[in-house]
Amino acid sequence: MLIRRLHSSIQSFGKIVPSNLKGKKKSSQEWLTRQLNDPYVERAKIMNYRCRSAFKLLEIDQKYSLIKPGFTVVDCGAAPGSWSQVAVKHSNADGSKQGMPKGMVIGIDLLQIYPIEHATLFGNMDFTKPENQDKIRAQLGERRIDCILSDMAPNATGVRYLDQENIITLCYSVLRFAILMSSPNASLLMKVWDNAEVSVLEKNIQKYYTHVKRIKPSASRSDSAENFLLARGFVGIER
Ligand SMILES: C[S@@+](CC[C@H](N)C(=O)[O-])C[C@H]1O[C@@H](n2cnc3c(N)ncnc32)[C@H](O)[C@@H]1O
Repeated sequence: MLIRRLHSSIQSFGKIVPSNLKGKKKSSQEWLTRQLNDPYVERAKIMNYRCRSAFKLLEIDQKYSLIKPGFTVVDCGAAPGSWSQVAVKHSNADGSKQGMPKGMVIGIDLLQIYPIEHATLFGNMDFTKPENQDKIRAQLGERRIDCILSDMAPNATGVRYLDQENIITLCYSVLRFAILMSSPNASLLMKVWDNAEVSVLEKNIQKYYTHVKRIKPSASRSDSAENFLLARGFVGIER
């Protein structure tokens, strides 16, 4: 609170405007203002989540019960780690729900990921590379995945069609891995950016799962093209 007072002034209509913006780019100024006025950012700090994204997964999980005790979860694009934090709790990978089966959480990201207790994290690794997927497989051992998450987003190039092509490539990479490694009835949750290719992707996912739907959780900013595809009821390839 004190820090906020030091760095911000509150305008009469209640919006927090950061001070010391001199010399900062307009986009940075907008980002800072948005962060300071975002209730999820504040809640994430209070609840010890590494970022506000946690609330997207929490909301989806609350509605669809994606992650249950004993589940094996793979989190693609895990950094900084809030989805893995949620997955550890909900899968009971930390053993905190006594008498319930213990799950397993594996996270992977291009970036470094600071350790999260009871999760196995592969930082500085590209999920799309076969050798890195082999590392996940080795970690899984005999286990199959019950829930695969992908919040992966490529670095925006600023060229719209290229950015969209890049995220769709990531989505297909996750789908292929999910098809090979999922347990019967497993779920898949992946981030997409709205574009024509998403409908094609959705149709392809429907070949392997009984229920597929597009979701925009309330923690997902309304001005962003971000959406999630949620697929449930993995039926495998013989359908
Ligand atoms: C929105 S962030 C994920 C936030 C995360 N769900 C959380 O709650 O902390 C997207 C992440 O996807 C990662 N990413 C993008 N492409 C990737 C790839 N090919 N392999 C692994 N991670 C990737 C980025 O490095 C970035 O950290």
